Parts: sequence; C-alpha cells; structure tokens
Amino acid sequence: MKKLYGVIGDPVAHSMSPVMHNDLFELYSIDATYVAFHVKPDDLEDAVKGFKAIGLSGLSVTVPHKQSIMSFLDEIDPLAQAIGAVNTVVNENGRLVGYNTDGSGYLEGIKKEVPSFADKEILLIGAGGAARGIYFTLAQAGLKNIDIANRTTPKADYLVENCPYPRNSQVLNLEEAEEQLAKYDLIVQTTSIGMHPDVESSPISVENLRPTALVSDIIYSPLETKIMREAKRKGARTQNGIPMFAYQGALQFEKWTGIFPDIERMQSVCLKQLGGKKC
Ligand code: ATR
Repeated sequence: MKKLYGVIGDPVAHSMSPVMHNDLFELYSIDATYVAFHVKPDDLEDAVKGFKAIGLSGLSVTVPHKQSIMSFLDEIDPLAQAIGAVNTVVNENGRLVGYNTDGSGYLEGIKKEVPSFADKEILLIGAGGAARGIYFTLAQAGLKNIDIANRTTPKADYLVENCPYPRNSQVLNLEEAEEQLAKYDLIVQTTSIGMHPDVESSPISVENLRPTALVSDIIYSPLETKIMREAKRKGARTQNGIPMFAYQGALQFEKWTGIFPDIERMQSVCLKQLGGKKC
C-alpha cells in the first residue's frame, strides 16, 4: 500500500519539502507520497490523532508546531527533548516518535567545510529556537568552544544554563561580538536579520573578521545575505542555509526509509525551487 508522509505548518504553502521528498521517493522507487498539511494551532491535537488513526508514516513539522506537537506524541528522542522542539515524526509500529534533525542537519552541512572541529572557536549569533537546536547539537557532538551573541543577552544566558552537554561558552552582546570577532573560526548566523525582504540588514559588522574564518548563515532566501557578502569581502569563506535545509530533510528521509539520500540532488532541487522566487 502506498505510504503517506507530509509536512504540517501554518503557513505551509511555500514549503520546499514536498518537492524535495517526492523527488526522492521517485528516485528510489518508493511507493509513497508527501503532501503539505495546513494545520492551525488549535487543530494540532486533532490533526495528530487523525494522522495516527490513518497510519501516516511520517511527518516534517514546521513553524509554529515544533514545540506544541511534543505533548501529542508517544515518545520523544532525548536530543529533541533537550532542545524542546521536534521537526520530524516517525510512525514506529503505530507509535509516533519525535526527533529533531535541524541541529544535526546544520552539523552535517558544515562538516564538509570544516573537516575537523578540534580547538575551533565558534560564535553563534542569535538565541532563538534555531540557535537552540544548533547549540545543543554542536555541544552534544563534543564541540567545546561555542560562544553566543544576542541582542538580548539573558536569552543567551538561558541557553547556556539549560544545555545538558559539556562545553565552554561565553555570552556576548552584539557590540562585544563585533569587537572580539577576530577570535572565531566559525560564525553561525541564526537570526532572521538579512532574510528577504530585509536584505540590506546584518546583525553585526564583520570589520574584525579573520580572513581564514567561515561565516555560515542559516538563511537561504536570499542565497547570499549581507553578512555573507561582507565576509567574502574580508576574504572569508561563506555558506548559506541550503546545506542545512537539505541535510535536515536527508536525515528525515533516512529515519523514514533507512536510505541516506543523494544530498547533491536535494540541494539542486531546493535551488531550483528558490530560483522561481525573488532572492
Ligand atoms: P527562530 O526560531 O527562527 O530562531 P526566534 O526564536 O524568534 O526565531 O529568534 C529570533 C532571533 O533573532 C533572536 O536571537 C532575536 O534576538 P532577541 O533574542 O534579542 O530578540 C534575533 N533578532 C530578531 N530580530 C532582531 C533584530 N532586529 N536585531 C537583533 N536581533 C534580532
């Protein structure tokens, strides 16, 4: 029988996931289909019960349901529990199990650019939901020196105090981050600043950036944000949000099917979809 997968969100119409996953089902000759479900927050519990009743095989979860869906699932993976958000649901013999592949997707995407993280100094900009997933995952993976810069420093303090994995972290405000930028090998931009249509904004000046540094922005629209453009001007390398998006989807696909898919192809599919938009 054909298997059914989907993404739930509000809004969800512009999600790139259906095209990306349906392309993979076709590529690997899997008899399955993936659709977008527009679910309002008040309907989430009923929707999850319905998914269970009809035997849906798996879900991607996006804004605003990543936290609230947790109370309606049968089991939560420990990393997703620590992060406090689920972006992936797997139907494991009738039990709905929640995982988080956002942070691990980021880590897999950046590994290509940074083969060894030993002694690397990392600066995370932002302290919202996206930063939390990445911070906890990097710490769980054994990365030791991860500082956090945020406009509102108590939010960064909160992440540092709540992360269950060992690491050394300093909290900075955005001005301090600008001043101390030369210290860092990897800068991870996780805020929405610079995202379309706010393309002329950047959270910090990169005047003091080391030319050997790598600046990675989790934004993919535009494909090159202002902070990336300025980092390139300083001679640094950059990465946009496409690898993270493709890898979080690849890790979902692997959980659902056991196949780790063709990541280059996934990135091309995403780029093609973004090509139609104003970047
Ligand atoms: P997400 O889930 O995408 O991470 P979020 O939880 O709303 O979204 O977090 C947004 C992040 O962007 C936060 O770090 C936020 O900073 P504050 O914690 O100080 O609010 C940051 N951010 C958003 N708009 C900003 C702005 N204009 N200037 C500086 N930081 C901003």
